[in-house]
Amino acid sequence: MIHYSLMFACSQDGFIAKKEGDNPSLWTSEEDHKLLLEHIDESDWSVMGRKTHELNPNQNRKRIVFSRKVKTIEPVSPTIKNQFYFNPDITQWSDFAKLVGLNSKVLILGGTRVHDFFLYLDVLSKIYITIEPLNFNTGIKAFSFINFNDLESFLIARKYIKEQKKINEKTVLVTYSR
Ligand SMILES: NC(=O)c1ccc[n+]([C@@H]2O[C@H](COP(=O)([O-])OP(=O)(O)OC[C@H]3O[C@@H](n4cnc5c(N)ncnc54)[C@H](OP(=O)(O)O)[C@@H]3O)[C@@H](O)[C@H]2O)c1
Repeated sequence: MIHYSLMFACSQDGFIAKKEGDNPSLWTSEEDHKLLLEHIDESDWSVMGRKTHELNPNQNRKRIVFSRKVKTIEPVSPTIKNQFYFNPDITQWSDFAKLVGLNSKVLILGGTRVHDFFLYLDVLSKIYITIEPLNFNTGIKAFSFINFNDLESFLIARKYIKEQKKINEKTVLVTYSR
């Protein structure tokens, strides 16, 4: 069975980026960065939207990049191994499973519509949310179809168990497990 986790960092008001093109590493804590790298290392594959991929190129990681620009599974580049564009509108989910392997660990890394997709698919075993002590008031939301303040009750109603701990003086890591 594929094990799916979702991980993101956000402001207290639920934004994953201040604006288009914003790189969260400019405002996330060192502790969050360390956690992110640990989770990437523990995973077989990362999944992300095209914009997140383009903002964080890394040829050494195994990635599935969601994009509607492709009609079939296509390599991101002829020279990069193990990075593929995937369009879930067209390609069946069983082909995703074949690509990543049935016993793999898959880490979902944003952005908004990719979060939406996996929440809707209802396959996430773990959701890790780092909440940094900031308020942006505007920006790119963690999810499009649910208000960030309603996320907890949404997930609890779907049998997730919530835990939370501080990872530094002001940053909180909230984990939902199921
Ligand atoms: N704070 C965090 O933890 C965190 C995490 C991730 C990203 N971010 C930030 O968020 C911003 C990017 O997020 P974003 O939401 O604007 O963009 P994004 O999800 O990274 O990329 C959007 C693109 O992904 C493709 N896509 C998304 N959902 C798809 C679907 N269901 N089917 C097919 N293709 C799909 C489309 O590509 P095409 O246009 O090619 O069709 C879409 O234009 C950046 O600033 C990034 O740094 C923050």
